[in-house]
Amino acid sequence: MRIDVVSIFPEYLAALDLSLIGKARRDGVLDIRIHDLRDATTDRHRTVDDTPYGGGAGMVMKPEPWAQALESVQASASVPRPTLVVPSPAGAVFDQAMAHDFAELDHLVFACGRYEGIDERAIDWARELFDVRPVSLGDYVLNGGEVAVLAMVEAVGRLIPGVVGNPASLVEESHADGLLEYPVYTKPSSWRGREVPEVLLSGNHARIAQWRRLEQVRRTAQRRPDLLSGLDAPALTDEEHAAV
Ligand code: ADE
Repeated sequence: MRIDVVSIFPEYLAALDLSLIGKARRDGVLDIRIHDLRDATTDRHRTVDDTPYGGGAGMVMKPEPWAQALESVQASASVPRPTLVVPSPAGAVFDQAMAHDFAELDHLVFACGRYEGIDERAIDWARELFDVRPVSLGDYVLNGGEVAVLAMVEAVGRLIPGVVGNPASLVEESHADGLLEYPVYTKPSSWRGREVPEVLLSGNHARIAQWRRLEQVRRTAQRRPDLLSGLDAPALTDEEHAAV
């Protein structure tokens, strides 16, 4: 998979050299290219922002550096119309389903806005070359798109075959089946007076599976009741319904 990130803080994206994503880059599984938006400017000060028309606080990113940077990414694209993700608190909220959708794509491009955002004409213009997707990490405001891109690239990247060593670990994690993950424990079985739930030491795999599933339902009902209402009708057994 090819991923391009355009930012005025390319150093922010250095974390993509680390851990499983960094290894996938080195192994050639992920082709991640980071671009400095200021390289697409032509003035001595490498200006990327200006004051907003209509007044108001803060600065707005100028359209032309974005057009130059995105045109140059598109010129080497791996598909005719790559997807351009524009991180923004005004976007659709990113979730695991969106991560799966993005993981199916050959080429993702991220445009990291800063200040009050990017001149809207640059976003409109980009629709000629890209499938444009404004995406929010959640209902809060960051200083720019870089942190959102780190989160999205990690969430998408780990779904690409060859990035996570043991693909089985993707199956039983939070959100894989619409529920939160069950609690996990490791040795020692008794720690500072706290015991591992007895069932996990029983060796009875059917009982363990049943207990874990019940814990998933309990935890989801307690922490994220909104997720339960979105589940398909036959998703809960009678015992699980009683636990909610
Ligand atoms: N930029 C600023 N806030 C953001 C958010 N919540 N999600 C994505 N990008 C952002």
